[in-house]
Amino acid sequence: MTPTVLVVGAVNVDMVVTAPTLPSAGETVVGRSVARHGGGKGANAAVAASRAGAAVTYIGAVGDDDLGRSALAELNASGVLTDNVETIARCPTGVALIVVDENGENQIAVGGGANNELSAEHVHSAVSAKLPDIDCLLVSTEIPDRAVAVAVELAIAAGVQCVLNPAPVTPIVHQLLGSGAVLTPNSGELATLTAASPAGADQGIEQSAVRARALASRSRAPVVTTLGSEGALLVTATGDAERLPPVPTTVRDTTGAGDTFNGVLAARLARGVDLREAVTDANAAAALSVAMTGARAGMPTDWEIHSARAGL
Ligand code: RIB
Repeated sequence: MTPTVLVVGAVNVDMVVTAPTLPSAGETVVGRSVARHGGGKGANAAVAASRAGAAVTYIGAVGDDDLGRSALAELNASGVLTDNVETIARCPTGVALIVVDENGENQIAVGGGANNELSAEHVHSAVSAKLPDIDCLLVSTEIPDRAVAVAVELAIAAGVQCVLNPAPVTPIVHQLLGSGAVLTPNSGELATLTAASPAGADQGIEQSAVRARALASRSRAPVVTTLGSEGALLVTATGDAERLPPVPTTVRDTTGAGDTFNGVLAARLARGVDLREAVTDANAAAALSVAMTGARAGMPTDWEIHSARAGL
């Protein structure tokens, strides 16, 4: 049976400028190239899960405009079902303005548009209709808090595995900490969730392990922290910690690496593999994804993930 994943989150159109450096406040940098890509953390993760072999349905919102229609067409072309996407009248589809520098680091400003109007009522009816056929639900937080809460609560009540990607950290993430969802912060989000200063995110793996253990003991669920070039950190609900080392890669653009991680994690959990194995595949997939420019271009297929792991 093909594993099934339901993704609830944002869809954007990304306008990406590749420049020598990221601009500071008030500075203009002139880039070498500009390109349009599919984006949004929810839609990106849906594509990653589909490439990794899952049957994926995406739930979100677009405006009644050309950007929205082409965003959905791109998702369909990647094998993602979009029959439960809400169309918001008189509202633009979400757009992200992204600058990527020579080291592959990025700076992103999102105009949420229709994502900000995704209604909890729509999510309730769409998730309820799909849940009986779903192996794993993945939710990210670039959408209204009420929509996030409804999706997570429905999945948990139905006994369906749930992954909550707190990107960005919003008030609802704190309220859902006891829900049983697997949390997947990056190190900055982990610092925010544990009330450390986000600047403290750079204090190293040991510090992240301390924070992730504290978070897991509050949430009584696993916490999987993405550490960028340091790999990933898995902390179980009982506080056992293991770091999965980074997979060697060429870094061209880190945009969407976290989304790739989350999509592949959900696809593997849907397949029924254990959490450590799922995190190992997600870590390899995220490393492969940064070798191409654009959030989705480098997302690996199932076969590419297997090959990367075989080569380790
Ligand atoms: O995680 C990367 C994504 O964040 C981009 O695709 C952009 O649209 C923003 O949502």
